[in-house]
Amino acid sequence: MKSYRIKPSRSLRGELEVPGDKSISHRSIIFAALAEGQSRVTGLSRGLDNVATVNAFRAMGVPIEVAGSRAMIDGVGLHGLRMPPGDIDCGNSGTGMRLIAGVLAAQQFGCRLVGDASLSGRPMSRIIDPLRARGAHIGGVSREGSDKLYPPLSVAPLVEGERLAGLEYEMSVASAQIKSCLLLSGLYASGPTVLKEPVVSRDHTERMMVSLGIPIETVGSMVALDPQRDGWARRWNGFDWSVPGDPSSAAFLIAAALVAPDSEITVDRVGINPTRTGFFDALRLMGANVEVAPSGSGAGDEPMARVETRHGPVRGTCVGGEMLVRMIDEVPILCAVAAVSQGTTEIRDAEELRVKESDRIAAMGKVLAAFGVPHEELPDGLRIQGGANLRGADVHSLGDHRIAMSAAILALAADESSVIRDVECVETSFPGFARTLRTLGAHIEESS
Ligand code: S3P
Repeated sequence: MKSYRIKPSRSLRGELEVPGDKSISHRSIIFAALAEGQSRVTGLSRGLDNVATVNAFRAMGVPIEVAGSRAMIDGVGLHGLRMPPGDIDCGNSGTGMRLIAGVLAAQQFGCRLVGDASLSGRPMSRIIDPLRARGAHIGGVSREGSDKLYPPLSVAPLVEGERLAGLEYEMSVASAQIKSCLLLSGLYASGPTVLKEPVVSRDHTERMMVSLGIPIETVGSMVALDPQRDGWARRWNGFDWSVPGDPSSAAFLIAAALVAPDSEITVDRVGINPTRTGFFDALRLMGANVEVAPSGSGAGDEPMARVETRHGPVRGTCVGGEMLVRMIDEVPILCAVAAVSQGTTEIRDAEELRVKESDRIAAMGKVLAAFGVPHEELPDGLRIQGGANLRGADVHSLGDHRIAMSAAILALAADESSVIRDVECVETSFPGFARTLRTLGAHIEESS
C-alpha cells in the first residue's frame, strides 16, 4: 500500500497545468468512438478512470491509439460497436460505468459492466430504472439491507427490430452521470428524451452534442434531445478537440496556496464551465485571493482560464443549494480550506457525497478529526470550526482519490509531519499529484 509522508510547507510557488478534465475526457472518448471517421483528442487525462473508458471502447472494436495525453480515435459510427470478448471493467469510475451503460443499453449485443470494490458499492438503480422505462434490458445485483441495485451491471441485447423508446423523466437528484447516460441512450431511441433535473448539473454532454450538430435543446434545468428533429441523420464526423485542465484537480493546488503561508500558485488552461465553478464562488465568499482570467475555450465549447491564487486570510462561509451541485467534487478540499479559515464553515445539501467513491462526509469527518480540526458531521454535510492549530496526522484515504489529496493538502498546514495511507487511488484522476506538489516546493515523499 503506497503512502505519502508530508512535511509542513512554507511558501509554495509556481506556474503549471493540471491533467485534462476527467468528465470531458470520458465524454470525448465516447463521442469520438461513436463518430464517423477519425478524431484527435489532445489534453486527455491519463488517469486510470479514463484509461478504463479507452479500454472499454477498444474492447468494443474501436481502434484507439494513445500517446501521452493525445489520442487518435477511429470512430465506428453509432451502430458500429461490436460485442466485447469479455466483461468491461470500469475500474473505480462511476462516470465510466453509468455513461457506457447508456450506450450499451441500445446495442444488439449483451455485455457485463464490472468495477472495483468501491464502484461495486455504488447505487445503479438511478440509471437502471429509467433505462428500463425506455425498454432496455439491464439489471444489477441486490445487496442485503438495500432496495437498490449495484454493479456488476448485466445488459442484454435488444432483439432484431426492438428499439429504445422516447423517455420523459424527472430526475430526483441533480446528476450529470444519470443525465448523460439517458442522453447517450437517447441517441438511439425512436422518440425524444426529455429530462428535468432539480438543479442543473455539469453540462459537458449537452455542450458536446450541440457542437456536433445533435438536435438537443436546454431550457433552464430541462433538456430535450429529439433525434427525429430536422431530419437528423443520426451521425456526426470525427473532430479535433483539446480537453481543458480539470478544475477539480486544480482545486487542490489552489487550496495548497491558501493553506501554506507565503504561497502563490498559477494554474493555466483550467476549465471554467459555469456548472463546475462553485468552488471558485465559495472561495470568493471566503475572501480568498483568487483571480480567474478567461483564456479561450476547448473541447465542445468549454471555457478555460488562467487561475492565480495568492495566500491570504480566509473566513468561513455557508455553501449549499445550486452552488453545492456546481462544486460537488470539491467539497473535500473545501473542508481543508475551511480548517485554516477564521470562523465557521457550513456545508449543506451534500447528501450525494455519501454515495461517491467513499462516503465523503464521513471520510472527511475522520480526516478533520485526525488533524485536530473541530467539526460536526451533519446528515447532509459538515460544520467546520476553522483556525485551530493543525497537528500532524496519520490518516487513511479509504481508497478515495479526493480524500487522499485533501488530506495531503491539510498536511501542508500542520505543525508536524503527516502520513497519508493508501494513496494509489490518486492515479484515477491526478497522476503525478505528488510530483506536482514537489515542483511547487512541497516536501512530499511517496513510499510503498
Ligand atoms: C460526473 C458527475 C458527478 C461527479 C463525478 C463526475 C460526470 O457525479 O461527482 O465525479 O462526469 O458526469 P453526479 O453527476 O452523479 O453527481
